[in-house]
Amino acid sequence: MEMNSRFLQACQRQPVDATPVWFMRQAGRYMPEYRAIREKYTLIEICQHPELAAEVTLQPVRSLGVDAAILFADILLPAIPLGVGLEFAKGEGPVLHNPVRTMEDVRALNPVEAESDLGYVMDAIRVLRKELNRIPLIGFCGAPFTVASYLIEGGSSREFLKTKTMMYSDPQTWHALMEKLSSVLADYLVAQIRAGAQAVQIFDSWVGALSPQDYEKFVLPYSQKVLQAAKNENVPVIHFGTNTTTLLPLMKSAGGDVIGLDWRIPLDDGWSLLGNDIAVQGNLDPITLFAPLPEINTRVHDILRRADGRPGHIFNLGHGILQNTPVDNVKAVVDMVHEYSAVGIGNP
Ligand code: CP3
Repeated sequence: MEMNSRFLQACQRQPVDATPVWFMRQAGRYMPEYRAIREKYTLIEICQHPELAAEVTLQPVRSLGVDAAILFADILLPAIPLGVGLEFAKGEGPVLHNPVRTMEDVRALNPVEAESDLGYVMDAIRVLRKELNRIPLIGFCGAPFTVASYLIEGGSSREFLKTKTMMYSDPQTWHALMEKLSSVLADYLVAQIRAGAQAVQIFDSWVGALSPQDYEKFVLPYSQKVLQAAKNENVPVIHFGTNTTTLLPLMKSAGGDVIGLDWRIPLDDGWSLLGNDIAVQGNLDPITLFAPLPEINTRVHDILRRADGRPGHIFNLGHGILQNTPVDNVKAVVDMVHEYSAVGIGNP
């Protein structure tokens, strides 16, 4: 490890001077600096211009004092070279104009060469590594299930009707798609690490829609392939999902040095289910950030008390920052985490 930072130390369950904190979706529309850039460029344009992506990545590092930067990109960027027609439609979220529903659709997906087809992401990483000195840079990708759900549904979904119907009714097509996606995502993540990402996170945001049995059979082997490819590059790997209380032991067996916990499970209970031989990240409810400061304070304190000073806790939300979140409250959380953990909550 070329650099000592509390974030990278905590990923490896080493003792830290204070609990590291960063936020999923820490760059985005809740920040006036981001909105100023978004007025001139679309989301995809920002991602495809390394200088802009780097600038947006740095905004929360400068204004919040977080312990890690997360590359500004989107889990759906690989959909562009795959050829499914990605667009971020105003007010609708992502739309994929050519969804994947049959074996023919899977076969029609383009081959993807991450280093060239998504080269702008690697360029942004190289720009950022020159500009970030002591703050480590996190790369990321979507997990195969979560990316597959967008490809199959053609956008965001509540029930995952088409996704799970393919899984249950046409498993051959499901497995062919997951095989394809897991190799594309593994290559993409490895390319990010080789370009300079010092840790990576895989976002399985919607995997909580599955039973443990279905997760094990239809998802775990593919997530494992992506996680293993990253692990072979010797950087810490964070494995994140939401609604995962019943999936945590299986997610651990799929891989990751750090497992993300959402707010639906108390941090200590989640950590017990996983065991003490793994680090955890989480797990403040993002909506806490809309509450008055004394309430935020109580809830931050509660999470740190549950972590109890054990090495291997990275403070984060249980899911991404929401639009309209008050920036001052986000800053206040960073300061609270650093202040309380430095005096050693739970350490007599
Ligand atoms: O964390 C960061 O600051 C890095 C940037 C980042 C973005 N997307 C930029 C973005 C990251 C890590 C993501 C991940 C992502 N993208 C996930 C997984 C994380 C999660 O929240 O579960 C998912 C599911 C997506 C797919 C996606 N991208 C959706 C559903 C949407 C639309 C929802 C919305 O907020 O409008 C996006 C758009 C998007 N990606 C935005 C940002 C900042 C907001 C839209 C904009 O600026 O136009």
